[in-house]
Amino acid sequence: MWQLGSGTKLSDMKILVTGANGQLGNELHIQLDKEFPGSAIYTDIEELDLTDPKAVEAYIVNNDITHIINCAAYNAVDQAEEEKMLSARINNDAVKNLAIAADANGAKIIHISTDYVFDGTNYRPYRESDKVNPISQYGTTKRKGETSLLALSPEAIIIRTAWLYSSFGHNFLKVMLEKANTQQDLKVVCDQIGTPTYARDLAAAIVKVIQSHQWVPGIYHFTNEGAASWYDFAKAIFRIAGINKKVIPIPTEDYPTAAKRPSYSILDRSRIKATYGVEIPHWEESLSDCIKLMKQNGMLH
Ligand SMILES: NC(=O)c1ccc[n+]([C@@H]2O[C@H](COP(=O)([O-])OP(=O)(O)OC[C@H]3O[C@@H](n4cnc5c(N)ncnc54)[C@H](OP(=O)(O)O)[C@@H]3O)[C@@H](O)[C@H]2O)c1
Repeated sequence: MWQLGSGTKLSDMKILVTGANGQLGNELHIQLDKEFPGSAIYTDIEELDLTDPKAVEAYIVNNDITHIINCAAYNAVDQAEEEKMLSARINNDAVKNLAIAADANGAKIIHISTDYVFDGTNYRPYRESDKVNPISQYGTTKRKGETSLLALSPEAIIIRTAWLYSSFGHNFLKVMLEKANTQQDLKVVCDQIGTPTYARDLAAAIVKVIQSHQWVPGIYHFTNEGAASWYDFAKAIFRIAGINKKVIPIPTEDYPTAAKRPSYSILDRSRIKATYGVEIPHWEESLSDCIKLMKQNGMLH
């Protein structure tokens, strides 16, 4: 176990958040600025393209970065089937670049991965030690990112999450709300089971890991509590938002997509709860919080 106190005091931390314009990056920005004022810097592709190894190393060394939270990713699951090279560059090569640069400055890495490293054939929530078997290009590149990172940086922490949404960025919640005003009934897949996860809650868990004064490397699973199909998620969005919209459940075979998705990808969250004392809200409670915030911010009426 690596003790934060052995090398870095909380006040000496310099945290780099990559992919900062995304859902998780924005949520982290709010929480890190509150918990560790002045300690974090935020970059996205315009400031630092992670696929450029020299730029990444120079940035981390010149800014004397002590911690990296990598929220950058190629996340377009269907498009990845076409953009094989680009998805691999961002989800694997860029992670290697970060690992090498981190090593040059003795920095610690928290990297985010996905439930799509699994094939969905399990009969109980996936544990970190369960066999991976990605069934899409996105899942394959994210798994390669994990193995590259663990090979180059065995001290890294990897947090796998799933079905992220937030008031920031692009996600299923926003797509459903956009479709609320369309005439047709909404057909939504009912036989893929996962856990909708508020990026704000994942950001809070990451802050808790950093605040904990201890660093226990390896893979962790984090989602909100509970389980749902995309159909359940859509129904809950309209119910909580107070929108009268008919949602019709359909099987995956009636909604063909370029990428295959696991039919079951519930993650077992025991390890992060036991190691870091993370308390996790149920997904419906967090969805209510997010929709309430969107209403307060005038994003939804
Ligand atoms: N979204 C989900 O449902 C989901 C599910 C499971 C796991 N995850 C994982 O959770 C993490 C956070 O996801 P998120 O939803 O917050 O992602 P996001 O909203 O898509 O944000 C990712 C950010 O990374 C940026 N980026 C792309 N290529 C880059 C590069 N070469 N250099 C620097 N930045 C680059 C993106 O910029 P552009 O927008 O310009 O490309 C974007 O701003 C990712 O690791 C993702 O794989 C997400």
